[in-house]
Amino acid sequence: MSAPAAVILAAGKSTRMKSELPKVLHPILGRPMIDYVLDAARAAGCEKIVVIVGHKAEEVKAALSHHPDVEFALQADQKGTGHAVMMSADNLAEHDGPVLVLAGDTPLLKGSSLSRLLEVQQQQNAACVVGTAITEANEGLGRIVRDTNGSFLRIVEQKDATPEEAAILEINTGCFAFDGRQLFKALNQVRPNNNQAEYYLTDCAEILLKDGETVLAETAFTIQEALGVNTQEQLAEVADILQQETA
Ligand code: UD1
Ligand code: MG
Repeated sequence: MSAPAAVILAAGKSTRMKSELPKVLHPILGRPMIDYVLDAARAAGCEKIVVIVGHKAEEVKAALSHHPDVEFALQADQKGTGHAVMMSADNLAEHDGPVLVLAGDTPLLKGSSLSRLLEVQQQQNAACVVGTAITEANEGLGRIVRDTNGSFLRIVEQKDATPEEAAILEINTGCFAFDGRQLFKALNQVRPNNNQAEYYLTDCAEILLKDGETVLAETAFTIQEALGVNTQEQLAEVADILQQETA
C-alpha cells in the first residue's frame, strides 16, 4: 500500500480577498498561506501532494515550484469541489492507499487532526472519513446528517438543505480521508444535480455508503482550525492565532 497522499484544492477564485494575489499565496508570518496546509499534510505522513490549480494557475505553480513533494493538476473551469479532485486522477493513477482531501485556504489545520482522520480510515477500513466540527456558526457550511443511531447518512449543502437540516450544528470541514481507489470510483458517479449545478465532492460520501462501503463522520476538528480564510480580516485573525501558537 502507498503512503498517504494529499489533494489540496486551490483552483477557486477569491473575490472577497479584494486582491490580485491568488488567495493561497497571501503571506502569513512571511509564508504563503498554503505552506501551512502543506506542513500539516506532511506531518500526517503524506509523501505525495497534488495541488489543484486554476485561477492564476501559473502564479501558484511558480510560487510552490521549490517543493519536491508537490505536483500540480489543472482545473481549467471551476465546476465544483468534486470536479476539482477529479483533476488529480492521472497524478494518483498508481496510488494505492489513503488520500487526504484538504483546502488550500485553511492554514490552521493541525497535522495531529489529519493523522486522526487517517487512523480512523485505516482502522475501520473506511472508504471515506468526513472530518467534522461542531459550531453554532454553521452559516454557509455543509451540514452532517446522521440517522437516529448517530450513523453518518450524508452531507447537505446549506443551499440544498431543508429547514431541519439547516439547523444541524455539525458541519463538514472540507477535510476528508478517503481510500484512494474508492474516491475515484465515487467521483465517476457524481452528477451536478443540485442548486448550484456543481460536481460536489461531498456527494462521494453518500455514493460510497449506498455502494455498501464504510463511511464515517469523525469530529476531529475544532471549528477554529478548520476555518477558511475568505477576507483580509480573517487573514489578520489567522496571523494573530499563528503568532500566539508559535510564541
Ligand atoms: C465546501 C463544502 C462544504 C464545506 C465547506 C468547508 C462542497 C460541495 N461543499 O463548500 O460542505 O462545509 O467547503 O469550507 O464541497 N475549489 C476548487 N475548484 C472548484 C470549487 C472549489 O478548487 O471548482 C476550491 C476552492 O478554491 C476552495 C475549496 O475548493 O479552496 C472549497 O470550495 P468552496 O467553493 O469554498 O466550497 P464551499 O461552498 O465553501
Ligand atoms: Mg468555502
